[in-house]
Amino acid sequence: MKERILALQTEAEREIAAISTLKALEEARVKYLGKKGAVTELLKTLGQAPPAEKPALGKSCNDLKNLLSNLLDTRQGALEESAPAELPKGFDPTLPGRTLPVGKDHPLTAVMDRMVEIFRDFGFDVASGPDVENDYYNFQALNFPPDHPARDAQDTFFLPDGSLLRTHTSPVQVRVMEKGKPPFKFVVPGRVYRNEAVDATHHHIFHQVEGFLVDEGVTFAHLKGVLDAFVKKFYGPEITTRFRPSFFPFTEPSAEMDISCLFCGGKGCRICKQSGWVETLGCGMIHPNVLKNCHVDPEKYTGFAFGMGVERIAMFKYRVDDIRLFYQNDLRFLRQF
Ligand code: PHE
Repeated sequence: MKERILALQTEAEREIAAISTLKALEEARVKYLGKKGAVTELLKTLGQAPPAEKPALGKSCNDLKNLLSNLLDTRQGALEESAPAELPKGFDPTLPGRTLPVGKDHPLTAVMDRMVEIFRDFGFDVASGPDVENDYYNFQALNFPPDHPARDAQDTFFLPDGSLLRTHTSPVQVRVMEKGKPPFKFVVPGRVYRNEAVDATHHHIFHQVEGFLVDEGVTFAHLKGVLDAFVKKFYGPEITTRFRPSFFPFTEPSAEMDISCLFCGGKGCRICKQSGWVETLGCGMIHPNVLKNCHVDPEKYTGFAFGMGVERIAMFKYRVDDIRLFYQNDLRFLRQF
């Protein structure tokens, strides 16, 4: 009987290992462990064995039963895992899949995010402020004289209650500084509004990224270094910068920064009007009056600030020649990015 037990074990092990369908597995279970199965039959013959051997043989039989039961369960688990789920009738898994449309960032969002990312890498934090501003933050605190022409309704959208739509992101400099203590190192991405006729290069809504850094001993050299590094990261290491004197009420000295023309590499072309340079942003050392308005001691602290138009930069980067395209939501345009 011992031999029969061993022979049965060998046979069953081999058979179970080779099973490849759940149906064959069920058949094997019946064949070995069913009511009339081989192991059950074997147990029935136990009565004829010599009494002294009965306990050991009984145990062997039971061990075999448990072993086969385990093997069948394991095999079943493996088969169920790898078996494909029952396919509904008419379903053809070999047909090519249908691609779902995947949304993505608007080119202006993508450019703005990239700009902010670069400044974050430089250690700047991100701040924001309200689109609906008042005269104090948009003009007065920024050292605009009371009769400055920018306040003119021709340039600024005023709301019936006397508040206004911010014409630049610079008011956030004041909002951040008046609430904190130096050093300050922030970028401010945001939307701005100007009462302008819309054409290929102007829109009444556009975006700016403002930046400012205030600490002891900050100089114009820091401003140049940060902006030059930014441009090289954003457009590429071959791009160079130059600074021209300019004027803003809230910076002194003030400058415009040009970058070498992306289109002709500085040789001169239609885009850069043969100059080799394109204007990219306004910047300067924060005016002492602005620092005073924010309760920052201008004798102890100095700082620089800059503000750049996102649309303008996106137009250069993607060679888009009409700003209005960014606002028309034409998918044929947007899909190109
Ligand atoms: N706020 C200015 C503008 O909108 C840009 C600027 C920001 C200039 C900060 C200097 C410093 O044109």
